[in-house]
Amino acid sequence: MQKKVSYEEAIGLKYPEQVVILLVKDAEGKCDPVAIGWTMVASAQPPMMAVALGKTRYSLEAVRRKREFVIAFPAAAQAGDALFFGSRSGRDTDKLAERHAKTLPATAIDGVLLEDALANFECKLESETPTGDHVVVIGRVVASHRNADADGSRLYTLGDGTMGGVKKA
Ligand SMILES: Cc1cc2nc3c(=O)[nH]c(=O)nc-3n(C[C@H](O)[C@H](O)[C@H](O)COP(=O)(O)O)c2cc1C
Repeated sequence: MQKKVSYEEAIGLKYPEQVVILLVKDAEGKCDPVAIGWTMVASAQPPMMAVALGKTRYSLEAVRRKREFVIAFPAAAQAGDALFFGSRSGRDTDKLAERHAKTLPATAIDGVLLEDALANFECKLESETPTGDHVVVIGRVVASHRNADADGSRLYTLGDGTMGGVKKA
C-alpha cells in the first residue's frame, strides 16, 4: 500500500546519501571546499559528474569564473572536515587552512586534490542547468585519482543527523 504524504516526509527516506567535496579556486586563488550531497555520475563516455549548487553559494560564483574544479570522495574519517566545509563559507573563511586539510596539486587543472579522500576527479565545466533554488553544474572528468592507502570506507549522511562510513561489500 502507498500512502500519500508530504514531499518532506517521503524524501526523508532517501538516506544514506553520499557526500562529495567540491574544491574550486576563487578569484584570490584560495581553494574553497564545499560539502555536497546532491551529486551524481552524469555520463560514462565521456565521464561526467553533476552537482547541485545553491544559487547563492560562493562556490558557484567561483565555478562560473574558474570553469574547472575537483570532486573528491571523502573517507569516513573526514566527517569533521565535511561538516566544516558544509557549514562555513569561502566568502570569509579559508576552510582548508582552518582544518589543516592536506592537499596535493591537481594535474590537469588549476586546483587541488584532497590528499586523504578515497578518490579525486579533476573536472572542466561542461554546462550548467538552473533548477529551482539550485543550479546543476556538470563537469567533464579530465583526470582521476584513487587513494592507494585508505581502507575504502566512504562518507555518507545517514539521515538521523549523523554522518558515517559505508564500505563497498
Ligand atoms: C552533508 C552536507 C551536504 C550538503 N549538500 C549540499 C548540496 O548538495 N548543495 C549545496 O549547494 N550545498 C550543500 N550543502 C551546504 C554547503 O556545503 C554550505 O552551504 C557551504 O557552506 C557552502 O560553502 P560556500 O559558501 O563556500 O560555497 C551541504 C552541506 C552538508 C554539511
